[in-house]
Amino acid sequence: MAAKIISGKEISQEIREELRKEVQELKEKHGVVPGLVTILVGENPASVSYVTAKQRTAKDLGFYSVQENLPEDVSEDELLQMIERYNQDEKIHGILVQLPLPKHIDERKVIHAIDPRKDVDGFHPVNVGKMVIGEPCFLPCTPHGILVMLHRAGVQVDGAEVVVVGRSNIVGKPIANLLLQKRKPVGNATVTVCHTGTRDLAAHTRRADILIVAAGRPKVITADMVKEGVVVIDVGVNRIGTTPEGKAILCGDVDFDSVKEKASAITPVPGGVGPMTITMLMKNTVEAAKLWAG
Ligand code: GUN
Repeated sequence: MAAKIISGKEISQEIREELRKEVQELKEKHGVVPGLVTILVGENPASVSYVTAKQRTAKDLGFYSVQENLPEDVSEDELLQMIERYNQDEKIHGILVQLPLPKHIDERKVIHAIDPRKDVDGFHPVNVGKMVIGEPCFLPCTPHGILVMLHRAGVQVDGAEVVVVGRSNIVGKPIANLLLQKRKPVGNATVTVCHTGTRDLAAHTRRADILIVAAGRPKVITADMVKEGVVVIDVGVNRIGTTPEGKAILCGDVDFDSVKEKASAITPVPGGVGPMTITMLMKNTVEAAKLWAG
């Protein structure tokens, strides 16, 4: 069976058009322009490319957007002071500090410093806590994007066996939490989380109706590890080389070519989860701006 390709790029475009209209309305009716600051520390090539894409999208949607580039050796205090300035800045509704940060900076302190009302990444413990108990909050962008993809692709999640590979705070833990909640329209699944300590990974992945892979290693999921008809969401973005023109060659955590022959639906890399993450960041920023529009 040839799998249906779930295109994050196409679903993203639909949502971005909806957001563009909302931004226009916020401007016309309330005089509010969604404001997003992205803060990048150092020059990690993957982070530079993510932040550039986030800024480009924000500008395209008509946001007020600010890009802050700090040197690799910036002090933790300087970064915390910058965050505080943006906490107080009325033109800014969303603050994003690109992770990972250099070793001398305490990531936890940085996340805690962001006003939860401007935490459009959904990483602040206040938002994480609200997410776990099902209260309205900013949902983390990648898991939020996965929920929207499953919904718009018409995947039956209610009662499904979901297996998540990876237990990061950014993807694995929150997506597992969201899918086990009774939330509508996407939730009420039976969820298993696998990780580096899992004894027999394939025994778990073979049971999955929906397999979500955020392992951070190229092609760890192969065709023999999945059952016929599985829906596969591949969160991995691995740089496995460079083209002669200097462009990064990307692959996911799933061996796409072999797994697509058994799956009923699968997300590609690139063009799958990646664009959705950026789109949900834009959605959270519009929601943050609405809080101030009253
Ligand atoms: N690094 C990898 N993914 C993310 C993300 O969603 N937000 C931030 N701030 N950093 C990241």
